[in-house]
Amino acid sequence: MSDIAKLLLRSGPCWDSPAWLRVYLAGLKNPVSRLLLLALRIKFSPAVLENIRASALPELEKAALFSGAMNLFRAGTAFKTTAAARSPLTDTALLAKARPGALIVETGVSDGISALGLLGQAAGAEVLLSDLQAGFPYVGGPLCTRYYGTDGAYLSLKFPLFLLCTGRRSAPPAGAPEVSLLNPLISGQFPAVKLAAFDIFSGALPRKADIIKCANVLNLQYFSSAEIRRAVENLAVNLNEGGWLFISQNNPKYKEGEAYLALRKEGGRLALSEEKNGHELLSFFK
Ligand SMILES: C[S@@+](CC[C@H](N)C(=O)[O-])C[C@H]1O[C@@H](n2cnc3c(N)ncnc32)[C@H](O)[C@@H]1O
Repeated sequence: MSDIAKLLLRSGPCWDSPAWLRVYLAGLKNPVSRLLLLALRIKFSPAVLENIRASALPELEKAALFSGAMNLFRAGTAFKTTAAARSPLTDTALLAKARPGALIVETGVSDGISALGLLGQAAGAEVLLSDLQAGFPYVGGPLCTRYYGTDGAYLSLKFPLFLLCTGRRSAPPAGAPEVSLLNPLISGQFPAVKLAAFDIFSGALPRKADIIKCANVLNLQYFSSAEIRRAVENLAVNLNEGGWLFISQNNPKYKEGEAYLALRKEGGRLALSEEKNGHELLSFFK
């Protein structure tokens, strides 16, 4: 396929209205309208997130629409798909290990809505939310706004009613403002909670965590076995001695729709300590 054809397939008409987004998301659920919407190459830019945040919608509707928009974005090979409080088994097991004052870091948290249950129950512990992308840096212009991925990948050029996704890599200028990816329900209910940029492969946390949660990120669908091992090594470096790494996944293939592994850091190394429902990575750590 030629570069122009690829460019056109990535790009398309774009109207960043929350009302239109609601219609679009409903349309995706019907196989016929889905086909039509996808054939029309309809796009949304990060501006839709700001428009949802500024809308007068009720809090819960706003939160659901914001997460619905996040489901349309990608971070490299991973989708940003998320849903509210989706890992209850993992959260319960993880909170049972959290001592007062512990630092719990949730990685790859998308817009943070998946941490709603954890944040509501983590009394006495500090919770830091993180993702490869915490925001989309942008540079506004009179006719066009340029949006960048936080991993340095050039994202898109937003013209009135058209989004051109160039696919080229280019770093944003220093100090560029960002569209925050934190769900407005989380920032409204937990004003102290921050969404930090943290790459599971290479990131260094400001201080070592007592518990790290990584839900729906370390999947064989997104990463190779070697990449998963590399990420786990880096997450281990970011853990305190005696700390825990929870790797979990939601999938109908598991009993209760969820499975997790709990690895404990002892003598500088991670070892499998608990597991629930046979997570697909279980054999990696046995
Ligand atoms: C499917 S979403 C899961 C979101 C949330 N954890 C949940 O369970 O609903 C995968 C997330 O992983 C993030 N991600 C992908 N690569 C990453 C990396 N190298 N470091 C940190 N996060 C990453 C994506 O940005 C995305 O938000």
